[in-house]
Amino acid sequence: MACAAEAILQVLSGPRLFNSDSCFHKSNSLPSSKYYATGERESGFVYKPNLRSRKCYPTHSLAESFSCKCQQAESVSGAAISDNEINGVANASILDNFGVARELGHEKVRISSKLHTTSIDSIEDEAWDLLRASMVYYCGNPIGTIAANDPNDSSLLNYDQVFIRDFVPSGIAFLLKGEYDIVRTFILHTLQLQVSFELSELLVHLIVTLDNPKNFRIILPFVICLGLDMSWEKTMDCHSPGQGLMPASFKVRTVPLDGDDSATEDVLDPDFGEAAIGRVAPVDSGLWWIILLRAYGKCSGDLSVQERVDVQTGIKMILKLCLADGFDMFPTLLVTDGSCMIDRRMGIHGHPLEIQALFYSALLCAREMLAPEDGSADLITALNNRLVALSFHIREYYWIDMKKLNEIYRYKTEEYSYDAVNKFNIYPDQIPPWLVEWMPNKGGYLIGNLQPAHMDFRYFSLGNLWSIVGSLATTEQSHAILDLFEAKWAELVADMPMKICYPALEGEEWRIVTGSDPKNTPWSYHNGGSWPTLLWQLTVACIKMNRPEIAENAVKIAERRISRDKWPEYYDTKRARFIGKQARLFQTWSIAGYLVAKLLLANPGAAHILVNVEDMELVNAFSCMLSANPRRKRSRKGLKQSYII
Ligand code: GLC
Repeated sequence: MACAAEAILQVLSGPRLFNSDSCFHKSNSLPSSKYYATGERESGFVYKPNLRSRKCYPTHSLAESFSCKCQQAESVSGAAISDNEINGVANASILDNFGVARELGHEKVRISSKLHTTSIDSIEDEAWDLLRASMVYYCGNPIGTIAANDPNDSSLLNYDQVFIRDFVPSGIAFLLKGEYDIVRTFILHTLQLQVSFELSELLVHLIVTLDNPKNFRIILPFVICLGLDMSWEKTMDCHSPGQGLMPASFKVRTVPLDGDDSATEDVLDPDFGEAAIGRVAPVDSGLWWIILLRAYGKCSGDLSVQERVDVQTGIKMILKLCLADGFDMFPTLLVTDGSCMIDRRMGIHGHPLEIQALFYSALLCAREMLAPEDGSADLITALNNRLVALSFHIREYYWIDMKKLNEIYRYKTEEYSYDAVNKFNIYPDQIPPWLVEWMPNKGGYLIGNLQPAHMDFRYFSLGNLWSIVGSLATTEQSHAILDLFEAKWAELVADMPMKICYPALEGEEWRIVTGSDPKNTPWSYHNGGSWPTLLWQLTVACIKMNRPEIAENAVKIAERRISRDKWPEYYDTKRARFIGKQARLFQTWSIAGYLVAKLLLANPGAAHILVNVEDMELVNAFSCMLSANPRRKRSRKGLKQSYII
């Protein structure tokens, strides 16, 4: 509790962590569509306003936004400007009311080509210009990148927001370029948006910690808000998500400052899924946040961010949310459909591979970053136990190759016993006809999902690639996944890398599983569409396995048309021949994914900031479990053992 209270105080008391420069803007002193923070000083505190409430409150209230008064990470101030000066981009000319660089896409390229002495001949230069043009500003500092930046598209939906998952390749590109500040700002401000303590819980923490009466000014606003029955947090139909949840996306809004018509201030407005299509909760956001945090420390050498008490608390809250006991019998995370990159109904509810791969990698990253302290011993034990159980479960039950497929083909069913071979009661008739033809003799992959009596045999790229990167897959399996990738190049890469999943759901299956989703028609979007952003994950996986030529070949294919096609979000058709039916153009993570792939191929050693090397203690625990596995050895002995590292 002391730690939590300390974290809260660190957040609340402002000056130690944040400059208290107010970030509001006098509209009459600035060009109409552009502004900079005036940097006026306020004596106020900084609070973490996304507190949970049990009460309903009107939407779009003050409560819903995180107003900047102004949270600025200590060392960020000014540095972003210098980054951009180095690169010759004039920030002042590209900001608009949403804090977004608005001289978009190709127009921006023309503008910056005048400013740059270098030309934009190469695709890489163009990509850098576009990436910088997608930067979103908060209080005058870059805080993220907008999802899509197409000047000719007025139907942006929520593509004008900063998505946590979409920012990861942007952040990595900036890190690899030595521009650390935007990533640091992103990490610290998204932390502020994380679903935090119950208001009442917070008050207890505060009261316990407040031994100095002077600190009463910190607690006062919370007391007032309680009294006024106000809340600062997002809910859906009066239900709040669990503590530790990170938003899917956020928007920087510029709003009039209370009581002053001529001034504006920036507020951060997060979306936890309560406005998203289908109201999907973004399970992957917190996991990506941890992965990016570790990459930031490894790349910049600045460990002070991960060592901060509020950051440590943020990591622990994500872990607690993921490690919480539930009804589940499996060590995999149980989630709803659409809780990750595939954020619409696609039949991936349950235990989708993508979430498990990110979960495993985030657990390893968090273990590296958690400061050893008495209070976290139980958490570390739970984390270690989960790592072992998770890797065992995925490696054993998600793996499929010719040999395993043949085993499943001959499965006996309805085995009621502790030492059943067919534990999940998979009926062999479930093996889809396409797989019988498709499975190469050499190679294999991790299936998309495993549930009682159900194996989702679809191949999902991100889950497989990140299982290699995070060492969830064994070395042998990792090579086999890349073997399959090479063997199935014509289907998985074809004219544009790479398929998000294979194959597409068609006909009646599409109708039932997607709910007749017109965006996810066969071989489009999430349903077998091809997403250039996946190039960066492919590159990290290939470099880790010392097979960079696979990624090199994929990048070459992308280079043939990605710039000419204006950096689409995704491509359609079996061979990825068309720009996606509803694909955004100038999609930032297509641009950033390409850049990360190029940067890493030029400097493969840098991939270590993302890779998790296999832990030998885990390997040992894993082999203990393997020898106790009844599929290999029919005995209950050993199964009761718990593996505490
Ligand atoms: C789509 C993608 C999602 C992405 C978002 C913004 O909804 O499915 O993964 O984060 O667009 O680009």
